[in-house]
Amino acid sequence: MFRIQTLNKISPLGLELFPREKYEVASDLPNPDAILVRSADLHNVEIPDSVKAIARAGAGYNNIPVSACSSRGVVVFNTPGGNANAVKELVLTALLLSSRNILGGINWGNTIADKADEVPDLVEKGKSKFEGPELRGKTLGVIGLGAIGVMVANDAIALGMNVIGYDPYISVEAAWNLSRQVLRADTLEGLLTKADYVTLHTPLSDTTKGLLNAEKFRLMKKGARIINLARGGLVNEADIIAALGSGHLSSYVTDFPSAELLACPRAICIPHLGASTPEAEDNCAVMAVQQLRDFLEAGAIKNSVNFPRCRLDQRAPHRLLVANRNIPNMVGQITTILAEQNINIMDLINHHRDDYAYNIIDTEQRISDIILERLKTVEGIIRVRTIEQGV
Ligand SMILES: NC(=O)c1ccc[n+]([C@@H]2O[C@H](COP(=O)([O-])OP(=O)(O)OC[C@H]3O[C@@H](n4cnc5c(N)ncnc54)[C@H](O)[C@@H]3O)[C@@H](O)[C@H]2O)c1
Repeated sequence: MFRIQTLNKISPLGLELFPREKYEVASDLPNPDAILVRSADLHNVEIPDSVKAIARAGAGYNNIPVSACSSRGVVVFNTPGGNANAVKELVLTALLLSSRNILGGINWGNTIADKADEVPDLVEKGKSKFEGPELRGKTLGVIGLGAIGVMVANDAIALGMNVIGYDPYISVEAAWNLSRQVLRADTLEGLLTKADYVTLHTPLSDTTKGLLNAEKFRLMKKGARIINLARGGLVNEADIIAALGSGHLSSYVTDFPSAELLACPRAICIPHLGASTPEAEDNCAVMAVQQLRDFLEAGAIKNSVNFPRCRLDQRAPHRLLVANRNIPNMVGQITTILAEQNINIMDLINHHRDDYAYNIIDTEQRISDIILERLKTVEGIIRVRTIEQGV
């Protein structure tokens, strides 16, 4: 029986994926095997030694003390892409909001609400002020082709746009999912000079902070529009307010308002609604539960933020899992201890990520508690456990 402690309200669609005969799930439970969390801050919480994994139903994970978890061999999972469709739909909305003067028109409409029977005539006379171009046939530049960027690029193709993508680190999985009609830009500058609309989908880091700034805006077509539902810091705020003020850029739609942007007539501010859908919450809970189950029942790691991706189809009856520091001769020492005990290894996989490594070792014979204790004494090994087939 595995014990899962939930530290926030988690979508029932996720929780019902824990089979009752194998899992005990509760908000208060001693010695849990894993913790399932959304926003609860774990930085000052004592995490019991029984905890092997922490799964965050969401993308960010700064509420989890990742480095302390790593040094204790606790695998931390998040759910990247779980909210991708929610964000993509808001990006499509943002493209239309940036182009057709929908908000201006609606706001003006509200000002004539008291005009009784004159309203229909006033609408027909006033509407010309709110004209805006169609998306079809225009060029969209997508910066960052991960979970969200790929979906945006593919749907923009379906809307009849020409799409150029820029992502020097695109993953194989994203490349497989991307429509072949999306053209590749070799440089950010190449994308910016061609695009009528630019949408950002990269993480915020030291290298992407201020990725779009005055120098980049100068390369862009006059009247171009920018959508930023990724992170406010990707765009230099003073520079974009200046480019909007001069009329060089027509519109900036962002999910990250500030007082200055709210006061800027050509900026459209959304109050961080990118992932605010019930479906995104369900998707993240389902992903978090599936990842925890795969890890607890089979030792597989997918979407961890501190340990490497690792999976091995189990064809032998016994499985040993070892987390260790990424230093020389670890596999050698582990296999030597197994050989000394006449344990025959049927299959083995070892992956590393930064300072840590993880091994899945399938064996013909059962690994005894004595062997586990012996492994724990090896300098550099931080956690060991076994799984019997069919657990
Ligand atoms: N508004 C919201 O509520 C909301 C919700 C979810 C995500 N986000 C933001 O959206 C971003 C993208 O999310 P995702 O799920 O698609 O992430 P992802 O990790 O799947 O994709 C990010 C992509 O950016 C690429 N990239 C990194 N640096 C780059 C650079 N310098 N130039 C071009 N590409 C670069 C990476 O290679 C990767 O393919 C997140 O980092 C997050 O900040 C916002």
